[in-house]
Amino acid sequence: MITELLPFSAQSVRKAAEIMAAGGVVGIPTETVYGLAADARNEAAVSRIFEAKGRPQDNPLIVHISDISQLAPLVREVPPLALRLADRFWAGPLTMIFPKSDLIPAATSGGLDTVAVRMPQSPEARAIIDSCGFPLAAPSANLSGSPSPTTAQHVMKDMDGRIPLIIDGGECSCGVESTVLCFPAADRVRILRPGGVTAEMLSELCSVEIDPAVTSEPAKGERVLSPGMKYRHYSPRAEVFIVNAHGKDFADWCLAHAAEGTLALSADPNAHGMFRCFGRDEQEQAHRLFALLREADDEGASTVYVEMPSKDGIGLAVYNRLLRAAAFRVIETDE
Ligand code: TXA
Ligand code: MG
Repeated sequence: MITELLPFSAQSVRKAAEIMAAGGVVGIPTETVYGLAADARNEAAVSRIFEAKGRPQDNPLIVHISDISQLAPLVREVPPLALRLADRFWAGPLTMIFPKSDLIPAATSGGLDTVAVRMPQSPEARAIIDSCGFPLAAPSANLSGSPSPTTAQHVMKDMDGRIPLIIDGGECSCGVESTVLCFPAADRVRILRPGGVTAEMLSELCSVEIDPAVTSEPAKGERVLSPGMKYRHYSPRAEVFIVNAHGKDFADWCLAHAAEGTLALSADPNAHGMFRCFGRDEQEQAHRLFALLREADDEGASTVYVEMPSKDGIGLAVYNRLLRAAAFRVIETDE
């Protein structure tokens, strides 16, 4: 299969909609990361997403809509709190989990009785959904296990020959995937995956609990609420380690332990040599994280040390993705 890469335009959007109406898969931009989209109602189309990604079948997909009126047909019930959150945070990087309707096939929901729904903020994503006129199932457009793609070129690298079309909408502004949450009680949400809509932002409207799987490794065989959390994820070929040190302490530890092929991601904007600036604050770090992990592979790095990120705001999302890229290896420098 030849994979076309087209800039976002009225024509390319039309072409994407035609492909997806016929059951095909298209790489599309969103504000978080690029997605691999297909008709969420069409079992055969959705199975092509799993094939292209090499994704385990029990890992459910997020369904993307462009208007709140598209929510009701997908779900059996919408808690009042969900409507308040939608009012405040949609369109945006927030995914909410609802009991699913019969419109959503088991292939989309990974066999669960629930469906995850989000309304992206990216005007390109919204134009594509509008043009299709049906909801789009879309996981991140990387090969299963690799870092999520934040540019169309990243998608091309993973999906060349596997899908017919990628729409180039430029670099993703947010850089990490949406916040995924469910509703354990009428006035409470549980964050299953942290993202751009932060715990701090949510706690202005309701009480917020953070699923233990966000920051700790699920025990073998343990049932996790969000199946995506149990898989090895976001990993470059290089071995990644989080180093629990900051500033000069981090730099000194890396210099003392560096070998051929070592890279270090630090918050220092003047980083040079084996050090790369990972971003001075949480926002910048979220924006750059996945591209830097991919660059480490392009440079043939064998080891990547990462300065412990802040866990405030979107920093929790950065920490969550890094823990998985590092297979939960955190180095304490004073031991
Ligand atoms: O920002 C995003 O959410 C991106 C863009 C493309 O929109 N999409 C994305 O999809 O990150 P994906 O498939 O890579 O991650 C979806 C996550 C997985 O961890 C999955 O297990 C969880 O959401 N999820 C989906 N449906 C669920 C459900 N019904 N119950 C629990 N978790 C669910
Ligand atoms: Mg993903």
